Amino acid sequence: MATAELSPRVFLPCFLLVMICLRPPLSRAARASDTVSRDRPLSGGHRLVSRGGKFAVGFFQPDDTAPDRWYLAIWYNKISKHTPVWIANRARPISNPESSELTISQDGNMLLLDRFQPPIWSTNITGNISNSTVGVILDTGNFVLAPSSNTTDFLWQSFNEPTHVWLPGAKFGRNKVIGHSTRIISWDSSVDPSPGYYTLEIDPDGTNQFVHKWNNSEIYWATGKWTGSMFPGMPEMASYPKALLAYEFVDNDQESYFIYHINETMLTAMFLMEVSGQVKGVAWLESVQDWVPFFAVPKAQCSVYFVCGSFAMCTENTFTFCSCLRGFNKQLEGNWLYGNPRGGCTRNARLQCGANSSKNAETDRFYTLAIANLPDKAWSGVAVSADGCKQACLDNCSCVAYFYGDNCSLWYGDLINLVSPDGSTGHIIYVKLAASEFFSASTKTGKALAVWALIGGAILIVIIVIVGVYLVPMKIYSKTRKIEGSLVVFRFRYLRSVTENFSERLGKGSFGSVYKGMLPDGTLVAVKKLDGVSQGEKPFRAEVSTIGTIQHVNLIRLIGFCSEQSMKVLVYEYMPNGSLDRNIFGSTPAKLSWNIRFQIALGVAKGLSYLHEECRSCIVHCDIKPENVLLDDSFMPKIADFGLAKIFGRDFSRVLTTMRGTIGYLAPEWISGTAITAKADVFSYGMMLFEIMSGKRNSAWCQQGTETFFPVLVAIRLQEGDIKDLFDSEIMRDANLQEVEKACKIACWCIQYDENTRPTMGEIVQILEGLLDVNLPPVPRYLQVLDDHSKLSSDAASYY
Ligand SMILES: *[C@@H]1O[C@H](CO)[C@@H](O)[C@H](O)[C@H]1NC(C)=O
Ligand SMILES: *[C@@H]1O[C@H](CO)[C@@H](O)[C@H](O)[C@H]1NC(C)=O
Ligand SMILES: *[C@@H]1O[C@H](CO)[C@@H](O)[C@H](O)[C@H]1NC(C)=O
Ligand SMILES: *[C@@H]1O[C@H](CO)[C@@H](O)[C@H](O)[C@H]1NC(C)=O
Ligand SMILES: *[C@@H]1O[C@H](CO)[C@@H](O)[C@H](O)[C@H]1NC(C)=O
Ligand SMILES: *[C@@H]1O[C@H](CO)[C@@H](O)[C@H](O)[C@H]1NC(C)=O
Ligand SMILES: *[C@@H]1O[C@H](CO)[C@@H](O)[C@H](O)[C@H]1NC(C)=O
Ligand SMILES: *[C@@H]1O[C@H](CO)[C@@H](O)[C@H](O)[C@H]1NC(C)=O
Ligand SMILES: *[C@@H]1O[C@H](CO)[C@@H](O)[C@H](O)[C@H]1NC(C)=O
Repeated sequence: MATAELSPRVFLPCFLLVMICLRPPLSRAARASDTVSRDRPLSGGHRLVSRGGKFAVGFFQPDDTAPDRWYLAIWYNKISKHTPVWIANRARPISNPESSELTISQDGNMLLLDRFQPPIWSTNITGNISNSTVGVILDTGNFVLAPSSNTTDFLWQSFNEPTHVWLPGAKFGRNKVIGHSTRIISWDSSVDPSPGYYTLEIDPDGTNQFVHKWNNSEIYWATGKWTGSMFPGMPEMASYPKALLAYEFVDNDQESYFIYHINETMLTAMFLMEVSGQVKGVAWLESVQDWVPFFAVPKAQCSVYFVCGSFAMCTENTFTFCSCLRGFNKQLEGNWLYGNPRGGCTRNARLQCGANSSKNAETDRFYTLAIANLPDKAWSGVAVSADGCKQACLDNCSCVAYFYGDNCSLWYGDLINLVSPDGSTGHIIYVKLAASEFFSASTKTGKALAVWALIGGAILIVIIVIVGVYLVPMKIYSKTRKIEGSLVVFRFRYLRSVTENFSERLGKGSFGSVYKGMLPDGTLVAVKKLDGVSQGEKPFRAEVSTIGTIQHVNLIRLIGFCSEQSMKVLVYEYMPNGSLDRNIFGSTPAKLSWNIRFQIALGVAKGLSYLHEECRSCIVHCDIKPENVLLDDSFMPKIADFGLAKIFGRDFSRVLTTMRGTIGYLAPEWISGTAITAKADVFSYGMMLFEIMSGKRNSAWCQQGTETFFPVLVAIRLQEGDIKDLFDSEIMRDANLQEVEKACKIACWCIQYDENTRPTMGEIVQILEGLLDVNLPPVPRYLQVLDDHSKLSSDAASYY
């Protein structure tokens, strides 16, 4: 199959992957040693470099603004971004590397010494060890202490005491003989490596699973017990090519541990505990010169315990997750600390409390807050009515909120783990605030308002007169909007009013939230507030104009935009049936018939084909998933979010960082780091096509204990000529079996590892329309769940 000819413009949007930046060559003036010994201590700006040059050991400074905090660390030596993977003295910085040294003590231990102090750090081995030992940094990133006579006989190794990173090849788990477990702990903040609040470790209760803990107490996420081939909580692990990332869990009398290996000729990758409490797998992308996450657990940032602190709301998929509740302000302005009690929000105005409710004093009041789930740590009140519940909360000064459903729940002290509701689901709780937060309350201000109303009225009359005299000849609506090309330029104030102050959120994506609005003529619109556009005014307008010229029945139409300082907003046509994911996976999925499903598949293919092949400046979408396909009132699909990659430019890596849970739509070339072409969209389309047919997320099948990844199962069954019973009988009731088979074949061709064997979107349209035939696809075995425990090397070859 011929690849589509792609001009540079085609893949510019995706990550600027064509521009392979070259690293500045490392100076090799003096070849650094990989060994520290008593005779050759390490100090100052010197460093050790592993034999293959991959890792280095030396002193580094995480925060330029704190010049007297230095740490001894291991980092990637060949990567342009300084990335420490292990830190000796993470909680005890030294002030000056020139006066400190890493050396070997008389008793054979490795020590970090600061001039006037007892050892800052030590390998701390007690017992009888050789007094002539050396420290060696290995190419695996393991820093070891061993007798100088035999450096493979490790007395101590950094792999057994990881800090925040878990490197490939390191055993992660429990040593049953000495009763020691490895754990990784987040940094306290992005510039402070001292131990933070989040930890990943093997379950201390002895089961074969890993748990995420906050403050060494609250378990907020667990992988689930090892099934023999996978962890139930991380089904996507099964979708990585084994030849790229192989893993196994070992459990015997001495130890139980998890270990993974990365094929280093293809990829540099690692797992780490982020400051924000998620464990992420990140891969180094040479083309972006940065680490890009390909995996995260828990998938939702907002399910991390205490992530935003007290009295703050977590909103998924926004750029800065946390925001203070009404009536509260950030505790640490400008330095929001994830998961840290020093972060969070405090009251603007102190509560009056019940004691003062007598006579004319103001009493505390409540406002309603919609949240996804009730926060834990609720107390059950005895009240039998909503009013009684409210009164119970008013009566106790430390009560901060109440909820009245079947019974009365009261919260005392802090409110934590609040998450914005997703769509219509959720609960309403009542949050207590001082009366002064409700400004229209008192009669005093009432009088003041009346006076201001009089003055305002007078001014208004003057304005109306002026407008009448001078401006009536102009079109009235030009005051709120003007036309640019085919697009309308909106004022931000105007958009705020048509969306009623952005009150009804339709959804949120990688680039910002979308709100429902109604123009004065009754037209419904979807208003998308873009988060964090760094682009200047002119390029922004240019890109938006380009998007405005792209029109197709299967692409969402851009009506206009707003660009006022940092406020960048796009206004789209409104789609009454919402996004595809809500229709096919939602809690009450509208039972879409096979015919509608087939039309959706065809429509999306046509829209993508137009983007790739027909429109003037071709565009790779890069983020095809059910969330980005919207349905109009007759369930005609329209693709959303195309062209935004250009606006975000390099920042497009945010698509990947905010893509928790959608990893299954990512083509392998995103992970392997080769150039992204339109075939990456074809891959995502294929993955989505399986879901359109099955009505289930591909990843959900693994959770149900099915050992075979659904797309692989379909490919196998196609070979056997028996696919019908793979799908929900309700969906298949009116299905045309030939169409089902055709769609299955297409989906399997789309997800082939080699992008050249994937069809183009144009070919897919022709096949769906019956103009082209399609052959039986090969089984994409690289996607097969690891079903045996054989090592990476033995079966790697069969996948290529
Ligand atoms: C060495 O270990 C002992 C006990 O195992 C501990 O009390 C001491 O603080 C450790 N010293 C250093 C420098 O880590
Ligand atoms: C320590 O090791 C030396 C030589 O390896 C041995 O002679 C000595 O008995 C050992 N001491 C103890 C207390 O085990
Ligand atoms: C190391 O041990 C040997 C014998 O066990 C002894 O002769 C030597 O002096 C020791 N060296 C140091 C520096 O303690
Ligand atoms: C070095 O130590 C390793 C691990 O203990 C051992 O297998 C190997 O035989 C030793 N080599 C020599 C030369 O003693
Ligand atoms: C964290 O845990 C420690 C020890 O269990 C406890 O003293 C401290 O209060 C906890 N911190 C918070 C904020 O709950
Ligand atoms: C009432 O509130 C005022 C100020 O808010 C405070 O000084 C006073 O002590 C309160 N009275 C009672 C009885 O708590
Ligand atoms: C408020 O409620 C807390 C928690 O139930 C309780 O410990 C405290 O005594 C109550 N205070 C008053 C004044 O009732
Ligand atoms: C109501 O209270 C009972 C007992 O305290 C509890 O089991 C139940 O879950 C509560 N219901 C709700 C909706 O909170
Ligand atoms: C690593 O990848 C290379 C290139 O794809 C392949 O030739 C090699 O066999 C792989 N190695 C392993 C151990 O899988």
